[in-house]
Amino acid sequence: MIPFNHLGWLFNRFGNAVYPRTVIEAIYGAVRPVQSGGSVLDLGAGTGIAAAHAYRYRRDLRYVAVDPAEGMLRYVPDPIETVCAGAEALPFASASFDALLLCEALHHFNDPDAAFIEIARVLKADGVLFIYEFDPSTLPGRLLSRSEKLLGEPGHFYPSEMLVNTLETHGFNITAQQTGWRYTLTASLKRSAEK
Ligand SMILES: C[S@@+](CC[C@H](N)C(=O)[O-])C[C@H]1O[C@@H](n2cnc3c(N)ncnc32)[C@H](O)[C@@H]1O
Repeated sequence: MIPFNHLGWLFNRFGNAVYPRTVIEAIYGAVRPVQSGGSVLDLGAGTGIAAAHAYRYRRDLRYVAVDPAEGMLRYVPDPIETVCAGAEALPFASASFDALLLCEALHHFNDPDAAFIEIARVLKADGVLFIYEFDPSTLPGRLLSRSEKLLGEPGHFYPSEMLVNTLETHGFNITAQQTGWRYTLTASLKRSAEK
């Protein structure tokens, strides 16, 4: 297992380096439609890098960073709120969030399907889900996936098309964007399209 609880300093120092400009702009795009005063959840937030990027673009929103590792959350900057919890059991009421950022974290979850059920539950009907992940069908993605499995991580790395199909079964419409060996997905719940 990767000891995230002891790696907050490392992510705080170097974590931003794995956020290319295209991904940062895609995060801006995900929070752009949120109405002023709306709420954004950064799930598997670590030190809150994704929420901090979104905050730089939209200071009029409320941000909540969720992670089971207190040692990561310790570095989350103000005014982002922190909650120590796992993605598989989120301590929030249904339909609490207008946008949810899930960056470089999904492959660490023990039970991604349970997390998708929770994500769909806590998002509002017209909420936006943004995912940033590594593509295991590319060489760097495959090497990363193997290395993490050697370290005892769950290693739930999905190729983009597989994650699109999985999210569709959880009721999402998805737009995918490939950025080299990484990709982003921006998804909305189908129930909002049916409104
Ligand atoms: C590689 S870090 C990414 C952190 C941050 N999103 C970023 O982009 O820097 C993965 C994070 O996922 C968190 N994590 C692991 N299992 C989790 C779970 N079941 N639910 C929520 N977060 C989890 C870890 O504690 C860690 O902070």
